[in-house]
Amino acid sequence: MTEQININLSADKKTKYEELLPQIDSLVEGESDLIANLANIAAALKYGLQFFWVGFYQVKSKNLVLGPFQGPVACTRIAEGKGVCGTVVKSGEAIIVPDVNLFPGHISCNVETKSEIVVPLKINEKVVMVLDVDSELPANFDAVDLQYLQKLMSRIETLWLIQ
Ligand code: SME
Repeated sequence: MTEQININLSADKKTKYEELLPQIDSLVEGESDLIANLANIAAALKYGLQFFWVGFYQVKSKNLVLGPFQGPVACTRIAEGKGVCGTVVKSGEAIIVPDVNLFPGHISCNVETKSEIVVPLKINEKVVMVLDVDSELPANFDAVDLQYLQKLMSRIETLWLIQ
């Protein structure tokens, strides 16, 4: 595995993702423990792309339970259907929230968060986990984030299947 992430912080977002994803592949190479891999992926994403908060919620008995994350402490448990994360679990579709104050039922874990993107991981058509990325900037997520975070989730699908 690699032990260091190198990203050109002055590059544009697409370039940063292009640099980051192969490094994430090296980061998880040879390790089958899902939690260990998710923990390192959260750190790589937060510090590589300089997000405010990056974390995973796993679906367990109709609840989303906080998994590995980087950033300030966050809500431990979210009911399916609640908040952005719970809505993604129900719909199975990713959501970009440009302004968290305008999302009905948004769960605020930190007042600094202004925008957010949540991407599901589906196994056999069922959402088993979501990746939640929060920004302290309004409207900080777009189709580029969606495209690369979905690519990341397809790598995480492989990690899920080998755990
Ligand atoms: N805002 C999320 C809750 C999780 S935190 O942002 C870390 C939501 O509405 O589901």
